[in-house]
Amino acid sequence: VVSRWAATRAAVVALAAAAGGCGSKPDYPPNLVFPSRTDRLVLKTPETPPAAQNEPGKLDEDLARLDSLGGKTALPADLPAATRTDLDRFLKDAFGTPAAPKVGGEPDATAAAEGLGLTPDQLAEGGKLYRKHCLQCHNLTGDGRGPSGFGGVPPPRDFRRGAFKFVSTGHGAKPRRADLVRTLTEGLKGTIMPSFGLLPEGERELMAKYVTYLAVRGETEYQALAAHLGGPGDPSAPPESRVGPILAEWVKAEQAPPVPAAPDDGEPGSASHYDAVRRGHALFTAKAENSCVTCHEDFGRKPVLRYDVWGTVAKPADLTATNVIKGGARDQDLYARVRFGIAPVGMPAHPELTDRQVWDLVRFVQSAPYPVRLPEDVRAAVHPRP
Ligand code: HEC
Ligand code: HEC
Repeated sequence: VVSRWAATRAAVVALAAAAGGCGSKPDYPPNLVFPSRTDRLVLKTPETPPAAQNEPGKLDEDLARLDSLGGKTALPADLPAATRTDLDRFLKDAFGTPAAPKVGGEPDATAAAEGLGLTPDQLAEGGKLYRKHCLQCHNLTGDGRGPSGFGGVPPPRDFRRGAFKFVSTGHGAKPRRADLVRTLTEGLKGTIMPSFGLLPEGERELMAKYVTYLAVRGETEYQALAAHLGGPGDPSAPPESRVGPILAEWVKAEQAPPVPAAPDDGEPGSASHYDAVRRGHALFTAKAENSCVTCHEDFGRKPVLRYDVWGTVAKPADLTATNVIKGGARDQDLYARVRFGIAPVGMPAHPELTDRQVWDLVRFVQSAPYPVRLPEDVRAAVHPRP
């Protein structure tokens, strides 16, 4: 396994290096295929919270330890050889190769993919741009194990779970295209993921489509492997039956209603803005189960660590610090974060709050790092003088 891993790594380093050059969009070698997944699947994370954050560059070691901590993982190598061959054949038939990507399998799947703009020509263009700008971190299959991102904490995202953090569509829902484009335009603050805001909008769209493609392909593979290796799902279900339902979730995300427009709460420091911040602070610190402070203890200065769906350790944001909001600090971004939570890390959604209450929490989060934007009583609680 180690040597195969090393060989894949070497091939990817070569691909990434060849991708340089101004304005060039090199093709993938025509005979290159997506390698079979060999890395560990996380089927269940431990109940007991993690003791520490992940160590840079020790992803495989950390995931291998999850079983002894009460989690459940599985290795693709334990799949019967014939099942693996069938799955690989299906994946190649349905999703093509890096040089000739497509979404197929069944007529319904092809139609849904076309509706999402995931056509072979768009995917091929997106794939070339991905190779140039993203492959070094997110890797050929989107497993997040590219050579440049290896030591990152958190590591580059593994798209193959089909799970995304920064969505405006619902709790645990797929992102809409605009959410992915926002991530590419702004980057993810506080992580190694840079902004691609200087590229033309159309190129970001194409790369977002390619991310969706890798996520659909990877989730299909994950579900099929998991079903055979003691995870959820029916092992006798043919892999082609998995593609349609996954695509349906992506279609549904595009149709989700937009985030409502923000109310006018006045300038930070005005009486009406102070009132909203004060109400938001009260909600944030409410003594209720699952209230914000249970995870963002001392407003996130003492974060309560938890496992995310990938089996890595998530750290609740320190909301007293500036420049840490990954998914954007604009009104619409934060409304979505508070309303829908961040499902892959277990941050809960809040369907029960009124829009006004969500906006109050948004105003508090936007103001928390800046003492001058907090009314005196809230300032004393969030930034006490020593
Ligand atoms: C230097 C490494 C690096 C590069 C280059 C990079 N990313 Fe990322 N990316 C990351 C990291 C790290 C994360 C995970 C951050 C987290 O989980 O908090 C991430 C997360 C993401 C996410 C998940 C967002 C969500 O809502 O959960 C998407 C989508 C993404 N990257 C797309 C891309 C695309 C497309 C490119 C190329 C245009 C790219 N990235 C280039 C490191 C990188
Ligand atoms: C069950 C634990 C949990 C609870 C409860 C919780 N959060 Fe979080 N929150 C997290 C984690 C974990 C992250 C870090 C996500 C990441 O960066 O991967 C986070 C991140 C955030 C972020 C940063 C998002 C970004 O774009 O980077 C904001 C803002 C936030 N939480 C606000 C809130 C508010 C407001 C509440 C209460 C309504 C709340 N959280 C309740 C766990 C929680």
